[in-house]
Amino acid sequence: MRIDKLLSEMGIATRRESAATARAGGVTVNGDVVKDLSRHINPEVDTVCYRGRAVEYNRFVYIMLNKPEGYVSATEDSRLPVVTELLPEELRHRELFPVGRLDRDTVGLMILTNDGQLAHTLLSPRRHVTKLYRFRASEPVCEGAEEKFRDGITLADGYECKSAVISLDPDRMGGLIELTEGKYHQIKRMIASLDNRVVYLERVQFAGISLDGSLERGEWRHLSAGEVSSLREKAGAIQ
Ligand code: URA
Repeated sequence: MRIDKLLSEMGIATRRESAATARAGGVTVNGDVVKDLSRHINPEVDTVCYRGRAVEYNRFVYIMLNKPEGYVSATEDSRLPVVTELLPEELRHRELFPVGRLDRDTVGLMILTNDGQLAHTLLSPRRHVTKLYRFRASEPVCEGAEEKFRDGITLADGYECKSAVISLDPDRMGGLIELTEGKYHQIKRMIASLDNRVVYLERVQFAGISLDGSLERGEWRHLSAGEVSSLREKAGAIQ
């Protein structure tokens, strides 16, 4: 990997900044001053220092995003804005993709990573990873909804959902729904099967990771080391 690429991907400096620093002798590789940052190094083995500080190389990146309305859960779309556009330039080079999908009008917790294996495992239907959603409906949710969710809602196309938990607010106009699967428009279709309609949907938890309440819509942060290891445990993929 080129030294300037490493520095920009790790968010240390843009290529232009790092070139200026290198010219002034501020970049070393294994203790030797390097002025040509197009030189290739092995970031797993070589120690690069920038202005006297060792650069830590993380192969994988894990991001929590508070998804706003109007963004597609994808890395590109010919017409509409995509969630990766909400990330800064230096992270856009890291080939991050969303772990699972939220509808364009759904907001809340979205995890993005470039760790394909972890994402694949978490999304595997066999893992039964839990997802928690807060919703509002257009009308009060009917009596008996709790039992119907527990016993498995049948969708209009005949699909029988796995057992799920709905906890309603006192006014029954909304509440929380916990799912262990993720079919297309699943919550909207489950609520539609009760002759009702979802008017607001927010994911608040995924695989035990909760949406950070300090993130405004559209804001992101790196997952903590604890959150990443909890995801790995959930995936049964402790490496
Ligand atoms: N269920 C839905 O209907 N939409 C989402 O975005 C997520 C779950």
